[in-house]
Amino acid sequence: MPSEPLVLGIETSCDETGVGIVRGTTLLADAVASSVAEHARFGGVVPEVASRAHLEAMVPTMHRALAEAEVGVGDLDAIAVTVGPGLAGALLVGVAAAKAYALALGKPLYGVNHLSAHVAVDLLDNGPLAEACVALLVSGGHSSLLLVPRVGGEDVTELGATVDDAAGEAYDKVARLLGLPFPGGPPVDRLARDGDPDAIAFPRAMSEAPYSFSFAGLKTAVARWIEERRRSGDTVPTADVAASFQEAVADVLTAKAVRAAQDQGVDYLLIGGGVAANSRLRALAAQRCERAGLWLRVPRPKLCTDNGAMVAALGAQLVAHGATPSALDIPGDSSLPVTDVLV
Ligand code: KG4
Ligand code: ZN
Repeated sequence: MPSEPLVLGIETSCDETGVGIVRGTTLLADAVASSVAEHARFGGVVPEVASRAHLEAMVPTMHRALAEAEVGVGDLDAIAVTVGPGLAGALLVGVAAAKAYALALGKPLYGVNHLSAHVAVDLLDNGPLAEACVALLVSGGHSSLLLVPRVGGEDVTELGATVDDAAGEAYDKVARLLGLPFPGGPPVDRLARDGDPDAIAFPRAMSEAPYSFSFAGLKTAVARWIEERRRSGDTVPTADVAASFQEAVADVLTAKAVRAAQDQGVDYLLIGGGVAANSRLRALAAQRCERAGLWLRVPRPKLCTDNGAMVAALGAQLVAHGATPSALDIPGDSSLPVTDVLV
């Protein structure tokens, strides 16, 4: 086995069919087919629609990734796949495909955690990290602070998580209130650029346990504020609402993440997951990390949202460190805990 394993990663936990190929920490291919347009009119991901779309996109996306990386399936050292958390039917498609490839090619299978993959993908952009870090994981379904002794390792401690909505979920709900399309993160991010982040003092749930988050109160405050304006016949300054909401989210996330890193005595803060693509979160995190003497690691926006390269990146670390491959009968697990890195 070469020291820089060539690994293919398959991601189908939500509405993106992703196939990525990496060699060690080098990204060779990142093919993604999204069914997001098919869900837009429902205002959220419809599980059955997502599953069928994965089924249709799986083989073409696989071929696209292999062509992009200019490798043949026989060259691969291992197949990695997201086994959870995510939508049960959607996971099933990726897991079944990965097993079929692993069995047919005689390659080891690594069933991995989607959330750990969001952390490990950072290695592709920012290179190996020899030290422990605190990871702020912010996606559509999860918001957590993690202590990660080694990125891509099997040991992860959850320091805290959201007690209600995930950060991405709050973005999606506020976008809906503002009449913006699903998923809400990108359009709110864009609209916020034209608004005043100090226009409205939305609440910051800082008083939760130090490493926990809560976004339900913020979402309700935004809904009430908009309702109040409409009731009094005033137009809603949507850009100001977007900017002020975004500022509240970025403020809480970065304040708690920086504090966690300082408390844990680590020098690195890593941010991953779809919400890590947010322009204000990235800018404020950079500013606060610099002030706190921390190094910030956050991958390019395209690698923050769901993709197969992140699964391959985690798989490559597991292979390189001699982790035991998964059994060929592993099931998908829609509620896989964040601490179960490899199944
Ligand atoms: O990690 P991800 O692609 O899928 C899950 O694992 O959930 O995250 C999707 C979430 C969605 O809620 C989406 O609105 C949010 O990430 N998102 C953003 C941005 N891009 C995606 N949120 C804020 N700003 C963005 N630029
Ligand atoms: Zn994700």
